[in-house]
This record gives sequence, C-alpha cells and structure tokens, in this order.
Amino acid sequence: MDVDSLDLISPKRYGANGQPHELLAWMRQNSPVHWCEPDGYQNFWAVTRHADIIEVSMQPELFSNEADSITVRTDQQVADLEEHGSIIGQMRTIISMDPPDHRLYRKVASGFFTPRGISQLDQIVNESAKALLDSLGDEGECDFVDIIAQRHPLRVLATILGIDREDEERLLVLTQQLLSGDDPDYRREADNRYQASAEVGMEFYAMFDRIIKDRRANPQEDLATMLANAHLPTGDSLPEIETFGYYLIVFTAGHDTTRNGLSGALEAFLENPDQLQRLKENPEMTKDAVEEVIRWSTPVNYMKRTAMADATVAGQPVKEGDFVVFFYASGNRDEAVFDRPQDFDIGRHPNRHLGFGWAEHYCLGAHLARASTQALIKQLAERVIEIEPAGPIVRTESNLIVGAKKLPVRYKLRPAA
Ligand code: HEM
Repeated sequence: MDVDSLDLISPKRYGANGQPHELLAWMRQNSPVHWCEPDGYQNFWAVTRHADIIEVSMQPELFSNEADSITVRTDQQVADLEEHGSIIGQMRTIISMDPPDHRLYRKVASGFFTPRGISQLDQIVNESAKALLDSLGDEGECDFVDIIAQRHPLRVLATILGIDREDEERLLVLTQQLLSGDDPDYRREADNRYQASAEVGMEFYAMFDRIIKDRRANPQEDLATMLANAHLPTGDSLPEIETFGYYLIVFTAGHDTTRNGLSGALEAFLENPDQLQRLKENPEMTKDAVEEVIRWSTPVNYMKRTAMADATVAGQPVKEGDFVVFFYASGNRDEAVFDRPQDFDIGRHPNRHLGFGWAEHYCLGAHLARASTQALIKQLAERVIEIEPAGPIVRTESNLIVGAKKLPVRYKLRPAA
C-alpha cells in the first residue's frame, strides 16, 4: 500500500472520511514508525502501535512537548510564526511544558481533578445531562451535536470556571474558532489566520480576566478561585499570563474533546443498536461503556513531540529535532492489544486504551470527562425508546479533535424516572 501521508493529517480528509482506520491498520502491520512528508505540512515520523506510543510517552525529556508545538504545523503557520513570533508570547500552558516545570504547574490544579474532587461535581454533571434530555421532549428530531453533545461540557466547564450562563454561547463560538479554525463553518473572519487567532485570544483573555479579578475579591469553593489564587509548590504565585493560560487550557482541552466523545458515543450506538440494548438491560455496564466509547471514537487523534537528541523508536533511528507524531486513534485499535479492535463492544474489559494519553501528560480532566460522559450515556440508556439517524453525519474538518459536527437524529424518549 502507498501511504499518502495527507490521509493522516489533512483536515479536509478527516471532514470527508473520518479517521483513516484502514491505513492505520496497514501501517501498524508494515511500517509502524513511518516517515511522512505531507505537502504543505511539517514532516514527521508517524508512530502507530500501542506499545511504541507508550514508549515515546514515557520519555518526556527526550520527546518534548515544549520544544515545538504539540500539533503538526502547516507551512503557513511556520511562516506566520517566523514573521510575527508566537501569538501567545510567554503564555505557557501545562500541555506545552516539559518536566520539571510541567510537574510543578500540573500540581496547581491536580487536587481539584482527583476522583474525590470530581465527585463534588456529580450534581452539576447529572443535572446538566438530565436537563438536556428533558429539553428534547417525548419525540422529535434534532442535531445531537448542537443540542446535546456540545452543551453538556459547556455547562459543566462554565460552572467550574465561574463563567456566567449568559456568556456560555460566546464561549462556545470562541472555542470553535480557536480549536476548529480549519473548518470553514467555524473559521473566524479576519485578514489572516494570525489576526484571527490573536483576536480570539484577546476575547478569551477579557472574559477570564473578569473572573480572575472577581474570585480574588470574592473567593468561592471552586476551580476558578483555586486558579485565580494559585501558587506553585515553590510558594511563588503564578504569573498573570500563566493563570490565564490555565483557564484557557482547562476550557479548551475539556470542551471539544468531551463533545466529540459524546457524539462518538451516539454514533457508536446508532451503528451498533445491539450495544445500546445491552446497556439498557445491564446499566451496571455504563462505566465500561464509557471506556469503550473513548477507545472507539478517540477524540484526541494525535499528539506531536520533538526529539531532543538522536534516538530510536521501535528500532527506527530518529534524529535530534525530528518530529514524532503518535496516533492515539491507531494505538486504540492495535490488534496486539485489543481483540476484534474495530468492533464496538461495551463489555470490553480490561480496556487499556490510550484515549486519555499516557504518563506525563495523561489527561488532567479524565475523571471529569468520564463522569460527564457517564451521566449522559446513563440518561440515554434509561430514556431512549427509539433513536435513528435523520440525515448524514457531517464531520469537523480537523485532524486533531476529531468527530461529528452534525449528527441528526429522530427519537422517542420516556420521561425521566
Ligand atoms: C473525552 C474527553 C477527553 C479526552 C478524550 C481527552 C484527551 C486527552 C489527551 C489524549 C491528553 C494528552 C495530550 C498529550 O499527549 O500531550 C489530554 C491532556 C489534557 N487534558 Fe484531556 N481529554 C478529555 C477531556 C478533558 C477535560 C474535561 C479536561 C478539563 C476539564 C481536560 C484537560 C486536559 C489537560 C489540562 C491536559 C494536559 C495535561 C498535561 O499536559 O499534563 N481534558 N487530554
């Protein structure tokens, strides 16, 4: 098979075809560390096997998040960067830091994201899921992404970050412009992409700055207050720009990922109605179902690292400065780890998926993401009498946070218990 590396990285192709599972399966078998030179993008090594993704992730000093971006840049982005410098200047977020700083900064918020910390959010998460299902009425048609999948994480994240309800819509638009700016439906109108990103950044800043000031004056028991008054374990207070960065990373890392996990869940159940039926009959399977949804949909498609020295990955020499890109979507369907990896099976156990990453940068919000997804899947399983597609799925043109942007469905629901 000829590997057309644009299939791995072109947002348009993700919009048209979704994740390239056939190609990834071939690469795992035949060329698991494959050199890619996609036209218009940075060149990189594509790492596709589960074990090799873990091997790279376990060496954060050698394979850096900080040395370059964590996404594959287009040639245009590289040129913009050379001309204008980084848009976000000195603003660093934990996902773009290496140890030892990464560990210090992660500790600032990790207490909040523990299972115990998150259990205090159960009420918000369950209420949001129930209210959204209630809003559908007994029967009808809707776009599941618009009405349910994107609104659930929006409400949950806005609540923990102290964002007013009336600002939620604005926040949603800004997030789409920031993260899915490759997609014409979400692109912000501006003279150029650089300008667009700068404007979006400033609007986020204005919104979060208001909250930071408020929480310093009126502390509450929430993440917003924790971040606004954050100190590093060294005792130093967090620089202003990095406080803002923390808000931004929590919101942006948490929103579209959870949205796509939820639409991935429904897509999986529509394709596999027997699995929805199985869940209805066995509600105790909800936790395993959530893990399978994350494995099967893998909303975070890939991550990029930069080799800090000459090294080898699965025996393949890579040079200092090379980009190493691992495809979580591929690791999550690796035949060496998963039985019938292309099947969606809510009973899969154990499920050693990489959907939340591995090791140093393992998803900080994984417990919250699981709780949010679980609450919504539980509502669906309890209340759906019938659900079926009411039109074609439209996928976001993004290579990074992948999934549906439109998922029209027709449904009949029973009222909440
Ligand atoms: C289904 C939903 C989610 C998925 C699939 C997901 C996936 C991931 C993945 C794969 C990484 C690792 C990135 C890397 O390798 O560099 C990551 C990191 C991260 N995630 Fe999530 N995530 C989800 C939800 C959330 C939520 C709800 C939050 C916050 C409320 C969040 C916050 C973060 C942060 C802050 C990081 C960076 C951690 C670090 O660099 O130490 N995520 N996530």
